[in-house]
Amino acid sequence: MSNFFSQPRERIGTFPTPLEFMPRLAKALGGPRIYLKRDDLTGLALGGNKTRKLEYLLADAKRKGATHFITEGGVQSNHVRQSAAAAILGGMQAELVLNTPAPRDTPDAVPPLQGNYLIDDLLGANCHFVATGPDRKPKMAELAERIKAEGPPGSVPYVVVSGGSDAVGALGYVGMILEMNGQLVEQGVSPRCVYVANGSAGTQAGMLVGKTLFGGGYGIKGYCVVPGGAEEITQDTLMLANQCAARIGAEPVDASLVVCDDTQFGEAYGTPTPAALEAIKLLAHTEAILLDPVYSSKAFAGMIADIRAGVYGSDDAIVFVHTGGAPALFAKVDMLGPILGKTGRPQQRL
Ligand SMILES: Cc1ncc(COP(=O)(O)O)c(C=O)c1O
Repeated sequence: MSNFFSQPRERIGTFPTPLEFMPRLAKALGGPRIYLKRDDLTGLALGGNKTRKLEYLLADAKRKGATHFITEGGVQSNHVRQSAAAAILGGMQAELVLNTPAPRDTPDAVPPLQGNYLIDDLLGANCHFVATGPDRKPKMAELAERIKAEGPPGSVPYVVVSGGSDAVGALGYVGMILEMNGQLVEQGVSPRCVYVANGSAGTQAGMLVGKTLFGGGYGIKGYCVVPGGAEEITQDTLMLANQCAARIGAEPVDASLVVCDDTQFGEAYGTPTPAALEAIKLLAHTEAILLDPVYSSKAFAGMIADIRAGVYGSDDAIVFVHTGGAPALFAKVDMLGPILGKTGRPQQRL
């Protein structure tokens, strides 16, 4: 018997998130019934999937007496934005290590105050800039040491890995499966597949543990939005799922259930593909729901490709987990031209 229900959790999100039928989208695509699990509506400083992970990470930090909540990401990270909000609710100071192509080390020269980074700032987080992704970890370690040595007496740093994707953070998505399974029963829906974006693997890994623990007659299909290729991301996702399962004394996940598809990755992390841009426009124009340009739009494009390939009949149902991220739209204005029919430039200065 697993001890999932006794894991410490801080209630900082708005749950359950809705499971909604998308009639206009389904009609436009002419395929199966499509449902959205609205994890873009988790409530914490504009919501998104990280809120579920942060409920467990924040509880862990509090149990360890943390005063400073340190985490990392790109300058437009959704995880970092929600972490800054979680730190406030946990009574901690957020310390954010952000990589940005143009790091500046003077206090008044910062990246464009846009999207997620604008919100980090509004939330009172301390932002520390580095040049590249690999520079983030050593900077977090340095900050943690400095807080212990030079912070006010009693200062305790708590370091959260990229995306909140460790065995603790993934617990949030174990719980999401239980929540969604209840909604599926209530609404009389038996989906064949549940689609989700995979960045740092924690969301899909947690879902796989949840399905193993609580059941579900559906497949889970993840779309990789980071480089590495399907094989590597599949391995990472399985490893994380099994670390999470071990933490709560659950059965390991069957490796054959881990499906990560890399066909929607495109040129680079953070660069929307034409299919992702089409997905953003389609969902906005049919259901007035906003996908993000980095994660959910690529996974959504994968789901559309499956529908167009005739994978589903009209009696089938599928679910898309909307993981949020719309604040990044404001920082990618220059890339949205093809769907807007005009060019735009992010505002550099307020
Ligand atoms: C909007 C959005 N969707 C999906 C993901 C991917 O989640 P994970 O990193 O748990 O794979 C992220 C991660 O940053 C995200 O911000």
